[in-house]
Amino acid sequence: MDGSTRKRTLLKVILLGDSGVGKTSMMNQYVNKKFSPHYKSTIGADFVTKELQIDDKQVTLQIWDTAGQERFQSLGAAFYRGAECCVLVYDVNVLRSFETLNTWREEFLKQAHPAEPDNFPFILLGNKIDLDGGNSRVVSEWQAKEWCDSRGNIAYLETSAKEGYNVDEAFLCVARTALANE
Ligand code: GTP
Ligand code: MG
Repeated sequence: MDGSTRKRTLLKVILLGDSGVGKTSMMNQYVNKKFSPHYKSTIGADFVTKELQIDDKQVTLQIWDTAGQERFQSLGAAFYRGAECCVLVYDVNVLRSFETLNTWREEFLKQAHPAEPDNFPFILLGNKIDLDGGNSRVVSEWQAKEWCDSRGNIAYLETSAKEGYNVDEAFLCVARTALANE
C-alpha cells in the first residue's frame, strides 16, 4: 500500500475544565498559532482537526472544545462516547478551577462510560503559567502532580496558551496517549 492510500487513524479527544481556564485558547494556539486576549465563552461544543505523524503512523487528531459555563453544558453521553483521551485543563492562578477537576473527571467517566474507568487516560494541563511572571499562581506543580498520581497514571504539563509554551508538547502527549488507547 502506498502512502496515499494508507489508512489514517482518527483520534477523538475532549477538552474539559472550568470556564475561562483557556481551553479554546489552547486549541487556537495549537492549530492556528494564534492567541487572542479577548474572552469569548464557548457555547456548546465544536471541534478542530490536526494531522500528525506519530512514529510511522498518520493520525488525525480531532479535538473537541467544550463550554466551561454550566448554562451551556448540554452535551449528552453520545458526545463523550468514543473519546480516546480526555484533557482536563485548569488555571494555575485560580484555585477553584483546580478544585473542580474531580467533578470534570467524574462527569467524563459517567458520560463516556469507558470499559475500564480506572485506567482511562486523562491528561492534566495547568495553564496560564505566564501570568504575572508566575507570581500569581496559587496551585503548585507539586500539588497538581500529587492530584495526578493519586488518580492513576495521569500525565501533567504546564502550559501557556498565550506564549505557546508547551502547547505542541501537550497535544503530542495527548495524541500519543490517545493512540495507545485506540
Ligand atoms: P469557556 O469557553 O468559557 O469554557 O472558557 P475557555 O476555557 O475556553 O477559556 P478561553 O480560552 O476563552 O480563555 C479565557 C481568557 O483567558 C481569555 O481572555 C484568554 O485570552 C485568556 N487566556 C487563555 N490562556 C491564557 C494563557 O495561557 N495566559 C494568559 N495570560 N491568558 C490566557
Ligand atoms: Mg472556550
